[in-house]
Amino acid sequence: MTFQDRLKSVAAEVDATLETYFNAPAEPLEDAMRYAVMGGKKLRAFLVVESCALHGIKHQEALKAAAAIECIHAYSLVHDDLPSMDDDDLRRGKPTVHKAWDEATAVLAGDALQSLAFLILGTLDVPSDRIVQAVIGLATDAGKDGMVLGQARDIAAESADAPLSLEAITALQAQKTGALIRWSATAGPTLAGDDVAPLAAYATALGLAFQIADDILDETGDEAKIGKRLHKDADAGKATFVSLLGIKGAQDMACALVAQANDALCIYDAQADGLRDAANFVISREH
Ligand code: IPE
Ligand code: IPE
Ligand code: MG
Ligand code: MG
Ligand code: MG
Repeated sequence: MTFQDRLKSVAAEVDATLETYFNAPAEPLEDAMRYAVMGGKKLRAFLVVESCALHGIKHQEALKAAAAIECIHAYSLVHDDLPSMDDDDLRRGKPTVHKAWDEATAVLAGDALQSLAFLILGTLDVPSDRIVQAVIGLATDAGKDGMVLGQARDIAAESADAPLSLEAITALQAQKTGALIRWSATAGPTLAGDDVAPLAAYATALGLAFQIADDILDETGDEAKIGKRLHKDADAGKATFVSLLGIKGAQDMACALVAQANDALCIYDAQADGLRDAANFVISREH
């Protein structure tokens, strides 16, 4: 099976897992939540499933952890698209939630997706002390020291007097995008009570490479393939690796980071090839 097929297959399994948490027929709030969380590449879910397989976590439990991180990711996107943030009308090839419903529904669907993530994590069939570790990790990586902090700095940078330094952009992107990717790739060892260090090193490099690729695609990508509006970051004055290093400099940095990510997997044998493929996909992807 090619990497793309494996990714699609995990995406279908995770969407089926997520489906079990929704009522049908549902309130408009739940319809909006489902609309936001279904679809997408499900790369974070794939990282969870692969890291869990490497550390002996049962596939069924891995799918639940994968569903949880995709709820957090979907919430972050719904809020990211709001008029008060990136003001986007297209996501995954469809109208954004505040366009398809309204702003209040988008805010509330994001809020409820975040709660649902923790509810799902709480139901994992692994020893409870490991659930606690996973919950503490997710609350940290999603919140004021992780994704939300990165988003706050991303918005603040739009009106900053001077461009951010490479160090400041690296920290911002590691929080905004890196933190959820790190949680995903370390879910296996966290839930197994194993050492997370090798996968944390892999994910730190991968998270940065992933956001660099997103920033490059904003300038060079194909809107029909990506399913979101492009050429917006520069106009908004976003602090990105592309704004600082240019396309070629950003591409070189992303390639170096992917090599670094793969090096961090050296303690794992061919069983980690899915994670190696994911790293290579991140810089070659067209969507
Ligand atoms: C988009 O993430 C937001 C970023 C962190 C750059 P993805 O590119 O993983 O979005 P989906 O989930 O596949 O739509
Ligand atoms: C968003 O980054 C990262 C999040 C935490 C949601 P972007 O604003 O670049 O993501 P896209 O390009 O809208 O998907
Ligand atoms: Mg944004
Ligand atoms: Mg955005
Ligand atoms: Mg972007």
